[in-house]
Amino acid sequence: MASGMGLCCCFIVVVMALLKGATAAQTYEVGDSLGWEVPPNSSYYTEWASNKTFYDGDKLSFNWTGSHTVRYITTAAEYDNCSKNPSIDIGSPFVLTLNRSEQPLYFFYCTVNDHCKRGQKFSINVLKLNSTVAAPPSPSSALSLPIDAFVAVLSTMVTLVLIYI
Ligand SMILES: *[C@@H]1O[C@H](CO)[C@@H](O)[C@H](O)[C@H]1NC(C)=O
Ligand SMILES: *[C@@H]1O[C@H](CO)[C@@H](O)[C@H](O)[C@H]1NC(C)=O
Ligand SMILES: *[C@@H]1O[C@H](CO)[C@@H](O)[C@H](O)[C@H]1NC(C)=O
Ligand SMILES: *[C@@H]1O[C@H](CO)[C@@H](O)[C@H](O)[C@H]1NC(C)=O
Ligand SMILES: *[C@@H]1O[C@H](CO)[C@@H](O)[C@H](O)[C@H]1NC(C)=O
Ligand SMILES: *[C@@H]1O[C@H](CO)[C@@H](O)[C@H](O)[C@H]1NC(C)=O
Repeated sequence: MASGMGLCCCFIVVVMALLKGATAAQTYEVGDSLGWEVPPNSSYYTEWASNKTFYDGDKLSFNWTGSHTVRYITTAAEYDNCSKNPSIDIGSPFVLTLNRSEQPLYFFYCTVNDHCKRGQKFSINVLKLNSTVAAPPSPSSALSLPIDAFVAVLSTMVTLVLIYI
């Protein structure tokens, strides 16, 4: 009986942890260990981003040494031709919280010299984080279950505990 209750409590702790994990925003280091630099090839950052799913509220951290900027715009026009019009004054690391309602598409590039033309650029879209939809990428497939299912399990466990008490 006591061990049964212990098991129930254990389940509840696990379920709570999963629920928390399902809504936690992710922080991505742009470019991983390279950081935000002129890349070794022009598809480096596109390849980096292609592998990831970005959700509303996730953060991107741009970390660099030397002279770089981060310009982020909503349309492809100036991104495609690496337009250098604005002067941007930001320091590293620059951490941006993605906001889908403000900007569903982000086009990022460095405005310094020819860095953008050499591939220091990438674009992403930001998905809505639904309460009933898959959580951000995670090693555990359990996290892709709907939250409703967790809530159902949770209330079952609470009921069981109450019955035991
Ligand atoms: C670009 O560089 C990265 C890192 O060196 C490498 O993993 C990737 O395969 C390269 N891509 C191309 C298209 O050469
Ligand atoms: C995708 O990203 C993960 C984690 O950063 C990495 O382990 C994996 O090798 C990447 N896969 C591809 C196809 O680039
Ligand atoms: C997006 O920005 C709006 C205000 O413009 C704010 O109310 C909302 O909380 C932000 N969303 C996220 C995920 O930061
Ligand atoms: C930025 O990158 C450098 C070199 O990889 C690293 O030592 C440093 O801790 C990073 N800074 C942040 C804030 O991530
Ligand atoms: C890039 O394209 C934008 C939008 O079409 C245009 O206003 C701008 O003059 C172009 N810049 C360059 C350097 O070609
Ligand atoms: C999010 O939920 C809405 C309904 O609330 C649905 O129409 C939409 O397709 C969902 N988004 C995703 C990415 O599944």
